Amino acid sequence: MEYKAPRGTRDILPDEMHLWHKVEDIVRLVCERAGYGEIRTPIFEYTELFERGIGQVTDIVEKEMYTFLDKAKRSITLRPEGTASVVRAFLEHKLYARPQPTKFYYIGPMFRYERPQSGRYRQFWQFGVEALGSQDPAMDVEVIGILIEIYRQLGLGGFEVQLNTIGCPECRPRYRDELRSYLGGRAGELCEDCRRRLVRNPLRLLDCKEPGCQRAIDEVPPIFEYLCDECREHFEGVKALLSALGVSFVINPRIVRGLDYYTKTVFEVVHSELGAQDVLGAGGRYDGLAGECGGPPTPGVGFAAGIDRAIQVLSAGAGAGEAGDAESRPGDAGAPGPDVYIAPIGREAKAEALKLAFALRQGAGEETPGAGGLKVETDFMGRSLKAQMKYANKLGARQVVILGDEELHRGVALLRDMSTGDQEEVPITDIVKRLSTFGRAEAATVQEATGCR
Ligand code: HAM
Repeated sequence: MEYKAPRGTRDILPDEMHLWHKVEDIVRLVCERAGYGEIRTPIFEYTELFERGIGQVTDIVEKEMYTFLDKAKRSITLRPEGTASVVRAFLEHKLYARPQPTKFYYIGPMFRYERPQSGRYRQFWQFGVEALGSQDPAMDVEVIGILIEIYRQLGLGGFEVQLNTIGCPECRPRYRDELRSYLGGRAGELCEDCRRRLVRNPLRLLDCKEPGCQRAIDEVPPIFEYLCDECREHFEGVKALLSALGVSFVINPRIVRGLDYYTKTVFEVVHSELGAQDVLGAGGRYDGLAGECGGPPTPGVGFAAGIDRAIQVLSAGAGAGEAGDAESRPGDAGAPGPDVYIAPIGREAKAEALKLAFALRQGAGEETPGAGGLKVETDFMGRSLKAQMKYANKLGARQVVILGDEELHRGVALLRDMSTGDQEEVPITDIVKRLSTFGRAEAATVQEATGCR
């Protein structure tokens, strides 16, 4: 094979797409119901936005950005995350002039030049929300609640919500100084990265996974004793409201997050089945970011969650590997099989089959375009009738229309119900009406049984 997808990227094939659609549908439903509107920002931005927004001394900006000069020699970066772009759009379109809060959600690919491993890609997908304009701890809790509700509707359990606060520019420097003086005496035990961080960003030491650093930070006091009154009150408010909402959480004083824009609340949702990359989704408050980007100071809070990782957990639960099984039918992977398979035999029948397929897909006679349309497949491989019946069965088709040249001359076709094996002759002119009614009746039965539309 000459070409492969670039390292750290992959194709998501139709076999697994039903899970992606499920995640996306639930994200849209939960977010829209909570009054969040979808935003789509460019996949690339000017590099300065991420340098300013995420922070110069972060792994993302220092090592992980896909940055290049465009033909006009402007520095461009593929977005490594969504928050900076959403805040940029909020400021650019002066959305702060409208009644607040402004609540966004997004779904899309992000790019980071990281070492690929299970659950870590160079192009990965996130869904996320950003709520701008409110300082209320209830806003933090709505955001966390939305993430949990999305997982609940997905049937994804077994995760843990971990909560922390990292203070604000008022109180954080005191804690930073304390860390510096405490850990400065143990610099010899720290990894090289952390020795650098000690000077530039000592908070980042707290989530270093190196054993030497872990030992050194084991006894550092948590930030709580250093918080200013406002940050302490905010943290208490978030905890109380989360409890009132029935969201269980644990306090993890080691969460500091790898992006510089956070203030006050930070949180991560971790899942034990994910291995080393165990964070399903994460976020926090960023009250200084809008000001940092040159706009009016505007508080904000949000999260982003890895879709690749959610799907990893979901497919482990649903029996991973099924989709790749050569013997499995496309219908087994979750996408429903066709309502109708049209089996033409002979050249003339082929044209009729194609016409019929388009008519049935259109849902002929319906007022709303596409409504009442059926999922219809037909032959493109010149298979024999026997092979077509086998293929229709493999696809999971519920009805088969058999169109032979001889039947065609008589203006009829054979209609076969694949579940009962019953077969009858039907005038071709009646087929669309007949099968469209069948589609509606089936849909009504499903709707009645599941309560879903
Ligand atoms: P983040 O923690 O960098 O936060 O990423 C959020 C989630 O994206 C992670 O928890 C993980 O599930 C997923 N993720 C990150 N990197 C990768 C990767 N290389 N491969 C697969 N999945 C990955 C942010 O991006 C912030 N913008 C979150 C936020 C929004 N904070 C406030 N608002």
